[in-house]
Amino acid sequence: MKEIFPGVFKDGNRVYTVNLTPGKKVYGEKLIDEKQGAKQLREWDPRRSKLGAAIVNGLKEMPIKPGSVVLYLGASTGTTISHVSDIIGKDGFAYGIEFAERVLRNLVELANQRKNIAAMMADARKPEVYKWIEECDVVFCDIADPQETDMAIRNSTEFLKKGGCLMIAIKSQSIDVTKRPQQIYEQEKNRLERAGFEIVQMIDLEPHEEKHCMIVARK
Ligand SMILES: C[S@@+](CC[C@H](N)C(=O)[O-])C[C@H]1O[C@@H](n2cnc3c(N)ncnc32)[C@H](O)[C@@H]1O
Repeated sequence: MKEIFPGVFKDGNRVYTVNLTPGKKVYGEKLIDEKQGAKQLREWDPRRSKLGAAIVNGLKEMPIKPGSVVLYLGASTGTTISHVSDIIGKDGFAYGIEFAERVLRNLVELANQRKNIAAMMADARKPEVYKWIEECDVVFCDIADPQETDMAIRNSTEFLKKGGCLMIAIKSQSIDVTKRPQQIYEQEKNRLERAGFEIVQMIDLEPHEEKHCMIVARK
């Protein structure tokens, strides 16, 4: 088992984070107790999480670190944000934005167990509604919507620190089904560059997530 980023471990093709709430699973993932009982690892399924897939597919720089403040757009039931919560630990904080009531219930339950997550029912198109949140080290965006890049840029303009990173999962099929995924990825990457971001890395998420990529960009 090797620590590839602070708080992220890898063994062969499997990736893990240290469980902030030992004994508790979030989405049926495997839990592994280390021999000395120092920590419990939680397996990160790359087929259930685009951030997990990006790590398995060779993410070079991990902007989410112990102590980071993260604005997470499209938190859903909490699969990926739970691993973010493991990594940032007790000194970090993750604001999870989600607008669908049916999935928010799980997210609220997760936030009750993990004190470093806020479950917030809000529309990422209207950042003015949650303008009270603090400045963030990372904006993470996983919203399958044609306007996703606009939302990511707008939220980053509002909340992302200068030098902070935007991580955005692009689903080409949500943007234009008639174009090849590579064309869409380039198009969205160019939009980020025009908005003043420096592209750090673009990672294809196949075969874990079909027709998806992750772009890491610095403000
Ligand atoms: C692909 S899922 C996210 C999965 C999640 N990131 C994970 O890995 O655990 C996209 C989520 O974005 C939410 N969403 C879509 N548009 C939104 C918006 N404008 N504001 C807030 N949430 C939105 C959807 O309800 C859905 O739960």
